[in-house]
Amino acid sequence: MNIKGIEFVEFIGETEIEKKIQALASEINQLYADKTPVFLPVLNGSFMFAADLLKHITIPCRISFVKVSSYDGLSSTGQLKTLIGLEESLFKQDVIVVEDIVDTGLTLQKILDELRALGTRSVEVISLLRKKPARDKGINVRFTGFDIEDEFVLGYGLDYDGLGRNQRNLLKAQRNQ
Ligand code: IMP
Repeated sequence: MNIKGIEFVEFIGETEIEKKIQALASEINQLYADKTPVFLPVLNGSFMFAADLLKHITIPCRISFVKVSSYDGLSSTGQLKTLIGLEESLFKQDVIVVEDIVDTGLTLQKILDELRALGTRSVEVISLLRKKPARDKGINVRFTGFDIEDEFVLGYGLDYDGLGRNQRNLLKAQRNQ
């Protein structure tokens, strides 16, 4: 598939994603058996992952979608990000942040700082993908779907320039184009 001049090739198929999601969900069902966690999917990228994951969550839970603004305040440098769309109190709640991909981990770090300041009881992260830079920096993702190298991926909610989110599988950009 070619998007805006970049060739993307199959990376992780639908069946493999589904199997991984079932395993992650059953881990969460066991670990949170006596809790009522609040899942916080971070839009836009995690919409498909969150929908499929939550279908396999069998314990009582709440779901609240959030977004990360590209900047906060008057600067448009994209440096200062802030969590938006949070409509319920997370005080003393067991929160599970649902991410599509953790790359440098900067976005996640900002989200975690904000959530902890709200007096949450616990905050854990589930991410479908974790790239090498996050691993190298020791970014803690409690539930990880796939650890991948430092490559650009698309599909299953993830986009390139706004396109490709609707793909049912994951593709990766072909190198040496
Ligand atoms: P981080 O702050 O560097 O961890 O970036 C995280 C965000 O960057 C993700 O939530 C995605 O929106 C975006 N991103 C990072 N890598 C990719 C990729 O390979 N494909 C699509 N989006 C990506």
